[in-house]
Amino acid sequence: MNELHQYQKPESAEALALGTDPVPAGPYYQDDYFALERESIFKRTWLNIGHVCELPEPGYFIVRELDFANASILVTRARDDVIRAFHNVCTHRGTQLVATDSGKRSTFTCPYHGWTFNNTGELRGAPDFERFYVEKQDCGLHEVSVEVCAGLIFVNLDPSPTQGLRDFLGPFVDQWEQLPVARATTYSEYVYEINANWKLTYDNFQENYHLRFIHARSGGGGAVGEENPFGYPIRYGFHGDHRTQEIWSNPSPVLSDTQKFAFGKLIPALMQKDALQHPFGRSYWATFPNLFMIGTPTQPFVHYVMPVSARKSRGVIRLYWVGEDTNASERFGREFSMTMARDVHSEDRRVIEAAQRGLNSGALEHIHLQSQEVLLRHLFTRVDEKVQAYKKALAGGAV
Ligand code: FES
Ligand SMILES: [Fe+2]
Repeated sequence: MNELHQYQKPESAEALALGTDPVPAGPYYQDDYFALERESIFKRTWLNIGHVCELPEPGYFIVRELDFANASILVTRARDDVIRAFHNVCTHRGTQLVATDSGKRSTFTCPYHGWTFNNTGELRGAPDFERFYVEKQDCGLHEVSVEVCAGLIFVNLDPSPTQGLRDFLGPFVDQWEQLPVARATTYSEYVYEINANWKLTYDNFQENYHLRFIHARSGGGGAVGEENPFGYPIRYGFHGDHRTQEIWSNPSPVLSDTQKFAFGKLIPALMQKDALQHPFGRSYWATFPNLFMIGTPTQPFVHYVMPVSARKSRGVIRLYWVGEDTNASERFGREFSMTMARDVHSEDRRVIEAAQRGLNSGALEHIHLQSQEVLLRHLFTRVDEKVQAYKKALAGGAV
């Protein structure tokens, strides 16, 4: 039996150092805790909002809404090939500049009084500008920090981030750059709105405890099996604010003929050899605060959960592909893979929202996490450290 089929219970020293106490329930539904998370985390952390394949040439742009900050972000690629990000806000009187979520255009004209901006951010022209009391060069769009790693575009609403993206991601950078996502030219996408806190939603995808109950129909993604019914991972890793796991692989997965056909089209070698031997085939990376990625070659999965409010979130699931599909079977393989991801997700959604409804009642002061839910505990611990530090700074008048 190779390493992929062995597993360990996660009682490592590092895991135990996070403690075993119950976790307070309030942070999973209370507005005041969310307000602190928004200020101490989401407005000052690198957040994935897209991929460079959406901006394949100069002139392309995308717009993304960050509801938690009431912000709309315009990301452009200009003639110099540089990717820039701006607040999608006209500097005249604040009108939202671009109303579509993507396109190709090298200038943007405000719908209100016609101020026109270059995709590098400068104010290019404005009707009757002589009558203003300001210089054009002082009217550029307001820039937002943006950096790219492995093709993924991250923004940071902090005007001067304390850390660049590469330092923030640390050892993941080299690993991610070897993944298909770094070379992706297209993707399949599924966006969902969910009536649940961002941590509660995200946590569902950090534990395998639920797989055998919620995904009995869809098979638990090969991460559970007779000899490992609870899907204990091969190992966990803790990397500052981030965390990883190696997902256990069922040595005798039950695959339908359709699954075999579809996955075989994505990885021709799959039928001859265990394609999950791929170096990152069972790797799972969770980066702070709200992104995770799975290296499975048949589902090159990137998922982030963006908060909207304390009890509402928007999730984006993408499967990133390299090159266009070249024939109908490959197309089928990709579509099938995405449909399967959606199917599994629809099983999750019901219980996540039910958990939120229960928590909203305030009936529980605490929730309980077992050893296999250690990644949830790690996220909560890291979030709470930042929230408490921010609260302290607020009380001391430092922010
Ligand atoms: S608000 Fe944009 S041109 Fe007036
Ligand atoms: Fe699930």
